[in-house]
Amino acid sequence: MKLLCCGIRDLRNIADARLEFTDGLNLIRGNNAQGKTTVLEAIYFFARGKSFRTNKEAEFISFDSETCGVSIKYADRIRENTMECRYSKSENRKLFKNGVQINRTSDFIGSFRAVLFTPDHLSLIKNAASDRRLFLDVALSQITPGYINRVKTYNNLLTQRNALLKDRRAEDGEYRILFETLAEQMAPVAAAITVTRRRYCEKLDGYVRSYFEQMTGGAEQIKTVYESCASQDKEALNDTDAVKELYRAKFTDNLSREIYMKTSLYGPQKDDIDIQLNGYSSRRFCSQGQQRSLAIAMKLAEGDISNESTGEYPVYLLDDISGELDSKRNGFFMSQLGDRQILITSCSMKNSKKFNNVITMKNGEAVR
Ligand SMILES: Nc1ncnc2c1ncn2[C@@H]1O[C@H](COP(=O)(O)OP(=O)(O)O)[C@@H](O)[C@H]1O
Ligand SMILES: [Mg+2]
Repeated sequence: MKLLCCGIRDLRNIADARLEFTDGLNLIRGNNAQGKTTVLEAIYFFARGKSFRTNKEAEFISFDSETCGVSIKYADRIRENTMECRYSKSENRKLFKNGVQINRTSDFIGSFRAVLFTPDHLSLIKNAASDRRLFLDVALSQITPGYINRVKTYNNLLTQRNALLKDRRAEDGEYRILFETLAEQMAPVAAAITVTRRRYCEKLDGYVRSYFEQMTGGAEQIKTVYESCASQDKEALNDTDAVKELYRAKFTDNLSREIYMKTSLYGPQKDDIDIQLNGYSSRRFCSQGQQRSLAIAMKLAEGDISNESTGEYPVYLLDDISGELDSKRNGFFMSQLGDRQILITSCSMKNSKKFNNVITMKNGEAVR
């Protein structure tokens, strides 16, 4: 996958910019607060279907503007494509692919694929479980048709269920029927999400282990496991029908406790990825250096699995991470990316010789 160019209008401090990219290593440099991350934010809209910095349009549309627009041109294995997002502070956003308006975000995601790596990801191992689930969901929605729809459907049902659990009539007989109906609807969707995530984690395991071994000389043993509240027994998580039954039981057998707690206690919204280091949970026991190496391994793996599923590597968007990593880890990471297309932002890289393309951001303008 190759990003050819990007157009930005009224996004944060960028009033109007057009940036062109080449194969290999593209550097977006500039002092702080000049618009470097905004460029990556614009491009990643197309991979994730929304901003990676905020859910609120009013935050990324320029303060003095009502609307903003971003567009990209990219080439996949088959052809060149264009995509465009138009946002407004007062109206729904509009999405276009190759000039045709697309109504559902799920039809938009998966076309342009990218791996984003920001300093926030360096603590992915120790962050809240929701960050690791987000890692899985963002990666999976780019490579698994229908996945993002299932997550949305599940979240809608979960919101309904949580509202019912908070209702003071929740114990009433007629509510029981509503809970049963919801359990029927939620169990298959929850099972599909869990099994898809678990299979992803199996692939992740192989890649993460191999990268971590290379980084540490094989001294440490790594195992990546998907942890699901559906069952402690990992083998039970292989079969979607079996997981569906497990969830159906969880959704019905614990109702009194859930009504007491006023929230759902089971479902894929409680799951996590556990990375075990020498048999111990890395979440609890790994050092900051190990944590960073694991984050690098996971981000490299994300690109590898995308390539495995789609036949081409995604574009890598690296936001200021070289400043956060020591030279050994940084060198390893960059060497593993080889000659794939990378966009890297930095305020410190003076030596621009090894880059195939250098763009300087100054006051929201792209200058060469
Ligand atoms: N909605 C907005 N309208 C205008 N400017 C904004 C908006 N949101 C953020 N900014 C400003 O945009 C600038 C660029 O931010 P950013 O892309 O994060 O810079 P960099 O990555 O180069 O450090 C910052 O000065 C920030 O204050
Ligand atoms: Mg930045």
